[in-house]
Amino acid sequence: MSGNLATVSYIGATILFILSLGGLSNPESSRRGNLYGMIGMTIAVLATVFGPRVTAAGYPWIIGAMVVGGAVGLYAAKVVKMTQMPELVALMHSLVGLAACLVGFASYIDTSAPLAGAEKTIHELEIYIGILIGAVTFSGSLIAFGKLNGKIGGSPMLLPGRHWMNLAGLLVVIWFGGEFIRAHSISEGMTPLIVMTVIALLFGIHMVMAIGGADMPVVVSMLNSYSGWAAAATGFMLSNDLLIVVGALVGSSGAILSYIMCRAMNRNFISVIAGGFGTGGGAPAKKVGAGETAPVGEVVPISAVETAELLKDAKSVIIVPGYGMAVAQAQHTVYEITKHLREKGVNIRFGIHPVAGRMPGHMNVLLAEAKVPYDIVMEMDELNDDFPTTDVAIVIGANDIVNPAAQDDPTSPIAGMPVLEVWKAKTSIVMKRSMASGYAGVDNPLFYKENNRMLFGDAKKMLDEVLVALKS
Ligand code: TAP
Repeated sequence: MSGNLATVSYIGATILFILSLGGLSNPESSRRGNLYGMIGMTIAVLATVFGPRVTAAGYPWIIGAMVVGGAVGLYAAKVVKMTQMPELVALMHSLVGLAACLVGFASYIDTSAPLAGAEKTIHELEIYIGILIGAVTFSGSLIAFGKLNGKIGGSPMLLPGRHWMNLAGLLVVIWFGGEFIRAHSISEGMTPLIVMTVIALLFGIHMVMAIGGADMPVVVSMLNSYSGWAAAATGFMLSNDLLIVVGALVGSSGAILSYIMCRAMNRNFISVIAGGFGTGGGAPAKKVGAGETAPVGEVVPISAVETAELLKDAKSVIIVPGYGMAVAQAQHTVYEITKHLREKGVNIRFGIHPVAGRMPGHMNVLLAEAKVPYDIVMEMDELNDDFPTTDVAIVIGANDIVNPAAQDDPTSPIAGMPVLEVWKAKTSIVMKRSMASGYAGVDNPLFYKENNRMLFGDAKKMLDEVLVALKS
């Protein structure tokens, strides 16, 4: 393939990636968006492999790597459950970071195209910054992976003087950056490069360890952004325009998503990155039953048949789905119940919290898969004022996103996070298996409210029973 054809293909792929991002912004066009992305990526890979910079000697290596990578990807796509997607995404971010580090070291020791003067300095700066971002992304994403799958505890690890440690790390990295640029030989430059890499790896671990459970969505989208910048840095090191553009697209869209997440959680972006700073000290979760901290009131259970009775009498219903609906895969039964109640003339709507579940848009994807009409799926802000005029609010496997402590308890780790005010409905029904806390690890006073009922059990099983009772 000629250089010109490769460039044209790169431009085509770039346009497809932009269209893909546009498509993914709406559930109705998301399938099309995915398709554009897939076509764009196929063109990008083909144009790179058959482009002017790969010689025949490189093909066996590329094919070998693609077979191994493709097999691992296929296997992961088959075995990973929908609820494990955020962990998989975190793991993939870490691979982008690792790739940036490896490409950085390889470009530094590669002497096949010797550079001099300003060109050499710029190339070395690209390497230094690329490895820095890559190492932070790599170790930070691995910790995020551990936190998301529960191997690492969700409560923030707050070291004394952590902000000073971060600042000291930054200054050392800048100083070693100067040493690296001034180095006369590869072996001389290797020491500052390795020291910086170790500091960046430690910073990545420290940054994510210091973040409390409920703030994890911001971290995940932030690492998504970092992985984009790491890819862009790799593009600079390899002089690959497409990688630079695609990296910048991922980096900037991830940054916008982080900003949206921060706004949704009522958090300050810098505070979240600094870890617990400004979030009431990022206090670790209180333990249930710790005497004075446990909410007061009585927990009143309800049966599936009684739930169905309440629904039969209701004129307006709001359903609030959360992570438990994804675990139980209850979305199809939710749809059946919705369809049945709509046929009976009930005004039924869904309230979606921006961080419900474990990834952005998690609930929207599940409801769209079950064919719930988009026009009754509303954002939190669109219907939060409607709870006082709602007969029944059903919470399906959600917990943190309906926790009144976010409003009432300034010492709570989730204090200040906007929540869906289900307790303002005439009756709220929470479906979950036990009294266990949610992702943030905090007790939920909603369960003890007078107008709240608890429908204990697996969400799918209980909803199936509710549906049978509704139809009988
Ligand atoms: P959570 O607060 O995690 O609560 C989910 C609840 O579902 C749990 O309390 C659990 O209680 C219940 N559950 C689990 N399996 C169930 C099943 N099979 N049937 C019925 N219930 C089941 O979820 P949420 O309310 O959706 O809030 C999301 C949380 O995750 C927030 O803290 C958010 O910050 C965090 N987070 C979000 C994201 C994104 S981007 N969305 C990413 C990372 C973290 P039982 O065990 O008693 O059943």
